[in-house]
Amino acid sequence: MSTKTPTTADIRRDFLDFFAARDHTIVPSASLVPGNDPTLLFTNSGMVQFKDVFLGAEKRSYVRAADVQRCLRAGGKHNDLDQVGYTARHHTFFEMLGNWSFGDYFKKDAIAWSWELLTKVWKIPPGRLLVTVYQTDDEAYGIWRDDIGLAPERIIRIGDNKGAPYASDNFWQMADTGPCGPCTEIFYDHGAHIAGGPPGSPDEDGDRFIEIWNLVFMQFDRQPDGSLQPLPAPCVDTGMGLERLAAVLQGVHGNYEIDLFQVLIRKAAELTGTADLENKSLRVIADHIRACSFLIVDGVLPSNEGRGYVLRRIIRRALRHGWMLGVRQPFFHRLVATVDELMGEAYPELRRSRELVERALKAEEERFAETLDSGMRIFDEIAARSGDAKGGTIPGADAFRLYDTYGFPVDLTADIARERGLSVDMAGFEAAMEHQRETARAAGKFSSSTGLPADLVAKLQPTGFLGYDTLTAGGLEVVALLRGGRPVDSIEAGDEAVVLLDRTPFYAESGGQVGDIGELDGQGVRFCVSDTQKYAGQFHGHVGRLAAGTLKVGDHVVASVDGARRGATILNHSATHLLHAALRSVLGTHVTQKGSLVAPDRLRFDFSHFQPMTAAELAEVERRVNADIRANHAAEVHQMGMQEALDFGAMALFGEKYGERVRVLRMGDASTELCGGTHVARTGDIGLFKIVSEGGVSAGVRRIEALTGQGALDHVAAEERQLDETAHLLGGTPAEAAAKLRVLLDRQKKLERELESMKAKAASGATADLASSAVEIDGIKVLAARLEGFDAKALREAVDRLKQQLGDTVVLLAGASGGKAALVAGVGGAALKRVKAGDLLSHVAGLTNGKGGGRPDMAQGGGEDGPALAAALEGVPGWVAGRLQAA
Ligand code: ALA
Repeated sequence: MSTKTPTTADIRRDFLDFFAARDHTIVPSASLVPGNDPTLLFTNSGMVQFKDVFLGAEKRSYVRAADVQRCLRAGGKHNDLDQVGYTARHHTFFEMLGNWSFGDYFKKDAIAWSWELLTKVWKIPPGRLLVTVYQTDDEAYGIWRDDIGLAPERIIRIGDNKGAPYASDNFWQMADTGPCGPCTEIFYDHGAHIAGGPPGSPDEDGDRFIEIWNLVFMQFDRQPDGSLQPLPAPCVDTGMGLERLAAVLQGVHGNYEIDLFQVLIRKAAELTGTADLENKSLRVIADHIRACSFLIVDGVLPSNEGRGYVLRRIIRRALRHGWMLGVRQPFFHRLVATVDELMGEAYPELRRSRELVERALKAEEERFAETLDSGMRIFDEIAARSGDAKGGTIPGADAFRLYDTYGFPVDLTADIARERGLSVDMAGFEAAMEHQRETARAAGKFSSSTGLPADLVAKLQPTGFLGYDTLTAGGLEVVALLRGGRPVDSIEAGDEAVVLLDRTPFYAESGGQVGDIGELDGQGVRFCVSDTQKYAGQFHGHVGRLAAGTLKVGDHVVASVDGARRGATILNHSATHLLHAALRSVLGTHVTQKGSLVAPDRLRFDFSHFQPMTAAELAEVERRVNADIRANHAAEVHQMGMQEALDFGAMALFGEKYGERVRVLRMGDASTELCGGTHVARTGDIGLFKIVSEGGVSAGVRRIEALTGQGALDHVAAEERQLDETAHLLGGTPAEAAAKLRVLLDRQKKLERELESMKAKAASGATADLASSAVEIDGIKVLAARLEGFDAKALREAVDRLKQQLGDTVVLLAGASGGKAALVAGVGGAALKRVKAGDLLSHVAGLTNGKGGGRPDMAQGGGEDGPALAAALEGVPGWVAGRLQAA
């Protein structure tokens, strides 16, 4: 280590270099959204991405690893959100330095290396460190005392201090079940001037002794019944909070005093115009901008449920603190650039998505700005009322109103309340919330056109779906018939109805895939199915018209799906999965599905992304999908439990409801997704994939439309035909078309320029001829003429030229075209004192059923072309002579 104080960037690098030099593979930070664990809202420690490796369910190509993992403790079980800003060390987002052994080294090396790194590389005085071990872990105790040479009074044994076997500060487990084991923790003594006792002492919760590194010796897999099964091999899992360590190495006490936070706090102070750098709102903002930035990088966008709602809560909490600092304009997104400067090198995914992050945050700021101000006013009113009347409690109904009308998450209201010494009636809030849900559910039931009467639902078994394997099936029983939405016993030819069967090969619209069409046939009975919809969520309703016969409940039919249409549809469905995967690999993992339509003739896919895709990105996505098609992966279907599916790496849409058993569709290494739809047997069946459009749908959501199979070929063929035709017209091959067209366009431009100058020449030639036909009356040259095809502008130019040529003159020109005549009159030189252009124009216009006017030297208007015009023009010299005499 250099003698200068290490920055957080130095510390990350030192850590990784140290373990790389000891044969550790450096692994990138995993996403904040755990890929393999639906029980976990966010990645909350470094080991999350390695859970299955400990359990032996996943093999990696290395047995030693080290990383810097981004972690989030907000929402869900580990929730530090409410503490942020009030303490020296709580964060929503933090970074964890970790090293791992998967059945390779164990306690001895793990302890020795941690000591070496802390005391030799970072030169922390050993006298400042002390450690804890699990009560019965004599091995770890022995290593600290004998190998490291730590004095016994610096090694503290901690037993089961949390009220149950293995419930201990020194027995780490990631959850109620799963990998666990004893741990040894290294503490730093911040000095006697800070209150607090060593671990295990009554005042251990003070701030003097701070845990900086936890070394877990993973040995067991805890079972649901509490018993401990040995892991296939003992492992090491260590975790060291970067921010705490930086505080130690930078000689400060609180995490917010380290370099990284100081830069963020200063920037936040600048953006909010805050002079006091100690203001706790600045800390909140500095913490929250990191959490929000990385959540968006990892594909979460603000929404009203699940992870998206946690993000929204964090953003709104930050905005409220900005509001307290007096900010009334969007400011929060402007901190993203600073986060990028500080962390973009360590996390290239942040640098890549920076613009997306800024736009998503700005959009959310603008959205909340509309209600924050009025919400705060309402809060003040409620607080004033509640403080007196209710003994300092905000009623649940009021908290709900703030939530529902002003977008205040209830924990935000609670946070504001806490500042004023008030609390919120959470039970009352929940009750109000539940009431609203019920109202919404009732409304939903009422308007649903695919609902069924409850007694019918109770009587029926969910429809058995045969359509994964076959398109035709016989012996199917009619279990219900609906006409006009009501159950009936039979239907007659001509009736529009919905037929429910016990089993069916007809796919009912879901997951974006359209419902099948086809026919149901019985003896003398034919029902034409024009759509299939899911009724009451579990019954396939064949929607259509009875073409012949009478159909009764209890009858049996043969069902035949329109195979060509279904065949085309499945190509689009499988291609949608490949497209989703390709978009994520080309644009980033922030891309998630926001909607989809899978029809026989096209597919439409909506996804989160904040800017239009470039032509190069579109080409790359198309190329990848087609490469996956050519790889001809088998499309395998697996039925499994939800957990198993996620372990399997299946992409699930967060917030979607999936049943106990799920269906996983895997196409080689290209795509693994939960899906109930119908698909190709091999990706090669898709044949060809062609994107036809890309555009925006709403803020942060883009849409791609694409074609597959014959549809894609037809599209290409149509474009080819158009190109052929174009090439033919250009007199060349399609390959030459562009070059030929360029030559033609260049030539056209040249010709246009030539034409312009010819026209100018011709016009001045024409006026020169005209000039010679002027008659002279009393020293004034008088000219009147009709010019074919001249418009008003050309006439004005001609009149100007004639005035120059003729000097003392009176001119009237009529430009005839299509039965009309534009008229321009001009008077120049000495004639100006005697004749007005406007008078002459009015005179001629009057004779030709037109009108016009203007200045004494120039006037314009219009009239009709024809004999009257000819006569009027002929009469001009006479009219001028009359005026000259009069003048
Ligand atoms: N997994 C251990 C922790 O999070 C290292 O503390």
